[in-house]
Amino acid sequence: MRLTDRLGRPLRDLRISVTDRCNFRCVYCMPKEIFGPGFQFMPRSELLTFEEITRLARIFVAHGVEKIRLTGGEPLLRRQIEVLVAMLAALPGLDDLTLTTNGSLLTPEKALALRDAGLRRITISLDSLDDTVFKSMNEVGVSVETILGAIDAAAAAGLHPIKIDMVVKRGLNEASIVPMAGRFRDSGHILRFIEYMDVGNSNGWRMEDVVSAGEIVRAIDRVWPLEPVEANYVGEVAERWRYRDGRGEIGVIASVTQPFCGTCTRARLSADGRLFTCLFSGTGYDLRHLLRGGEGAVEGVSVPTGGATDDEIAAAVAGVWGRRADRYSEIRTSNTPAVGTRRKVEMSAIGG
Ligand code: GTP
Ligand code: 5AD
Ligand code: SF4
Ligand code: SF4
Repeated sequence: MRLTDRLGRPLRDLRISVTDRCNFRCVYCMPKEIFGPGFQFMPRSELLTFEEITRLARIFVAHGVEKIRLTGGEPLLRRQIEVLVAMLAALPGLDDLTLTTNGSLLTPEKALALRDAGLRRITISLDSLDDTVFKSMNEVGVSVETILGAIDAAAAAGLHPIKIDMVVKRGLNEASIVPMAGRFRDSGHILRFIEYMDVGNSNGWRMEDVVSAGEIVRAIDRVWPLEPVEANYVGEVAERWRYRDGRGEIGVIASVTQPFCGTCTRARLSADGRLFTCLFSGTGYDLRHLLRGGEGAVEGVSVPTGGATDDEIAAAVAGVWGRRADRYSEIRTSNTPAVGTRRKVEMSAIGG
């Protein structure tokens, strides 16, 4: 059954966060001042099991989801994530299964295990080729070389395409834009530049720190001329550009300066089983409660003690999507005052 929300947008993608923990403390996502030693992450008992995740994923696929992305925090921190990959890869009706990682734990063995489990492609984050800059962004001393090794491991395992995501923050890594473009031209990998966003409540975001997609494209175009390319599919987040000399393509994700809420088909599931209909939502709908049962009701739906049936969960998902009217990035751009003050979920809890 096809679902559409209040703005006519279908449900096509599901992003599943498998843990809210990360071994990085990227300044734009989990600043170490806030995510310090005393920070309370989700207790293990609250995390969905692989069986629970797969059960929900099957229900979402029946509702029209064609693409699933595993995220975190850092998804490779979840033990034997390849087992979950295999369970999801077996779902009929799912066209695309991928994963976003910081690469620090992506050894050649892990890359092969993921590939053997049915993962076909992967996205790896890398914010600079300069070790000092990169370390000042991940804040845990992981070197550029480690991540370049992970990219090679993914390529050797046959994961394709490999996308490399770089968040650009003014004053930190804009000098890395052109070197990164130079390094990945001709590599067969797709480098994507991401505008720094005001996700969560912790990163102290300011508009002045955003390097716009336009600026990024101009900086590269001055060195290696670019031309625009058609999107791969309606609602693709990245705007594509290719080098005029035929040596590859890049993407820019302009979620701040050119928001794409109008075609946003993404639902997000947190590691503790809450369903979010926007990256900037304040609250999620508690699906774990429906799975596990217990006393009480979830937003008006009474929960049987033994847990809900697939049909009941499917009806709850349909209800949530049917009520969806989120378009945060478009509203932020038009500068509605209430937006800046709203409490939001952290990016590390629902993935990028
Ligand atoms: P492909 O499936 O490879 O096309 O990836 P994608 O375009 O879905 O992008 P990906 O999931 O790798 O997301 C890359 C980055 O884009 C994220 O880390 C976010 O910074 C940003 N992004 C992705 N989805 C959204 C969204 O729904 N809203 C906003 N505002 N930003 C998003
Ligand atoms: N702005 C933009 N993207 C972000 N990510 C995390 N925090 C932000 C932010 N503030 C995304 C990046 C990173 C992925 C794991 O999450 O794409 O590579
Ligand atoms: Fe950095 Fe990704 Fe970890 Fe956030 S989840 S701190 S962006 S590596
Ligand atoms: Fe989708 Fe919300 Fe991002 Fe807009 S801001 S594109 S509605 S997730």
